[in-house]
Amino acid sequence: MKNIISLCFLVACLPLIAVSQNIMPVPSSVQPGSGYLRIDSSFSLSIHGKKNQRIEAAVLRFLKRLSSQTGILLRIDGGRYNAAASLVIRYDTTPDSFPRLSEDESYSLHIAESGARLDAKTFAGVLYGLETFLQLVEVGADGFRARHVEIEDQPRFPWRGLLIDACRHWMPVEVIKRNLDGMAMVKMNVLHWHLSEDQGFRVESKKFPKLHELGSDGNYYTQREIREVITYAADRGIRVVPEFDMPGHTTAWFVGHPEIASGPGPYQIERKWGVFDPSMDPTSETTYKFLDTFIGEMAALFPDEYFHIGGDEVTGKQWDANPQIQEFKRKNNLNDNHALQVYFNRRVLAIVKKHGKKMIGWDEIFHPDLPKDIIVQSWRGQKFLAEGAKQGYQGLLSFGYYLDLIRPASYHYSIEPADSTIKSLSSDQQKKILGGESCMWAEYVTPENVDSRIWPRNAAIAERLWSVATTNDVDDMYRRLEITGKRLELLGLTHRTSYIQMLERIAGVQSIEPLKTFADVVEPVKGYERGRTRPHTSLTPMNRLVDAARPESDVARRFARLVEELIAGRISNDDKTLLVGFLKSWSDNDPKLQPMIAGNQLLDGIGPLSKDLSDAAAVGLRLVEIVSSSGKLANEDAISFKQVIERAEKPRAALLLMVVPSIKKLYTAVVQ
Ligand code: ACM
Repeated sequence: MKNIISLCFLVACLPLIAVSQNIMPVPSSVQPGSGYLRIDSSFSLSIHGKKNQRIEAAVLRFLKRLSSQTGILLRIDGGRYNAAASLVIRYDTTPDSFPRLSEDESYSLHIAESGARLDAKTFAGVLYGLETFLQLVEVGADGFRARHVEIEDQPRFPWRGLLIDACRHWMPVEVIKRNLDGMAMVKMNVLHWHLSEDQGFRVESKKFPKLHELGSDGNYYTQREIREVITYAADRGIRVVPEFDMPGHTTAWFVGHPEIASGPGPYQIERKWGVFDPSMDPTSETTYKFLDTFIGEMAALFPDEYFHIGGDEVTGKQWDANPQIQEFKRKNNLNDNHALQVYFNRRVLAIVKKHGKKMIGWDEIFHPDLPKDIIVQSWRGQKFLAEGAKQGYQGLLSFGYYLDLIRPASYHYSIEPADSTIKSLSSDQQKKILGGESCMWAEYVTPENVDSRIWPRNAAIAERLWSVATTNDVDDMYRRLEITGKRLELLGLTHRTSYIQMLERIAGVQSIEPLKTFADVVEPVKGYERGRTRPHTSLTPMNRLVDAARPESDVARRFARLVEELIAGRISNDDKTLLVGFLKSWSDNDPKLQPMIAGNQLLDGIGPLSKDLSDAAAVGLRLVEIVSSSGKLANEDAISFKQVIERAEKPRAALLLMVVPSIKKLYTAVVQ
């Protein structure tokens, strides 16, 4: 009898596991229990460890968030050393001034009848345990509660970063801060801050004020603001690694300092997107003297031990056009421009080291002659990462994590830093892979919509870098991504609200209803396609539907699932009703949307796409009937349906109709 009961208990446990795992990223080990810790206004907390202001502040933020999550007014005075507290926090060491690479980030969180206990060695562990606790809180019949659970957790990779490009479009401090909050929630620990570009130089330099005064249109971070962000990040366990890209991507430096360029100038801030020719003169001592002073200043401003020098996409055209540079190459046996860049990197590395930092650069800096203590960040593919690791270089993966390319979360989720090439390396070589970074390049984002490009998809990348490699159930990832998206919005990110606000701007005084029905099923074109559509500069307003549209249509994903179930003959009646309802709403939408499109500049080019959606949905309705009756498509319909689908597949106004591939599947299922 007892065995039967425990067997039942085991079976009943399965849904419990799902309930307790609304956590993102998934912890290393979760053992759910069966009871709950009540969370009400009597919730109390105690801290055991050496008194520390940073930990106290983190706990205060935790209590405020718990309060905002539940609507319960909590006492936030804490109560140290209260052994009967609802949540007891213990830690061994107090935080250093700034977080460092490869600290112990583990924690254990046990919630039981007697209360909750969070144990961590370090500040980072405390922070992560508190984040996990917040993700366990749910509402039940008796109010808010957290399920009894035993969690042991630690990250798979020590370097889990997000790159924010503050250059192509300016990103004010508040954008950076709210994204740091989001990063902390998903346990990311490095902000890679891309601070100089052809289109802008974004940091105040006291040594060379012309850099920011002439290179930024007035949009730069003061040194006081930089320090404020670094402290804000450190409070959340996040390191800040600055990138000053060189010798290419440097036009904005040269507006004030043409003397370090390889061509005569004059230079202006670049307004277009792309890869440009201006690059530093790697043969001139003036350049190195300048960089010594500049890097010295920035090395003192940014406390992290790593300093990113970029190094990507040097065209070499200015070098080829400069007879002095050609002469230098001949004299020094530098056979090509890559060799010249390696020479430059060595000189810069010496400067970076002199100022107490370790150097990071993109793939292109990789050269077997460079010392082994540099980090190579791979944007071109895992094979470059593996190549570096084989030769003893530490590496970070960013290939596959480019958020600006508007790929689905499932794509990013599938990109494994330790892929088969890496797995074939020795375990020492494998340890060279420190982790990865997602990248938010800012050609097509502004402070208004940047959150919507980062979140929630970035949480899928955060999970890939934190959780064990076998955490790879895509459906469950999407389930938790939706929950995480809501939590992030509550934290202050704007990816959900900005969507509605941007649609409301487009709709003007009219109801957004038909526009939203349409916008819910479109996505911006993928990869680098957008750059090939309407000409864009850094001054082009970003107020079109493509800027509002989400990177990933949840409606289209749900629709795809329903279509698959219909075709497989296992759709429920409710789901069939839902499927038909979707198609009807799209098929009816065009006449409602066209009056808004007419005479609205912000909807230029949308008319035909709206018509395509309605036409394709009408075809979809017919196809659903045929599939449902196990019929086949009549030949005369086959041709016209195919034309409708093919027209609707074409991108227009830089947008794709994401439900069309599923309608095409219906077609394929019944065409003779
Ligand atoms: C890069 O995308 N050029 C780093």
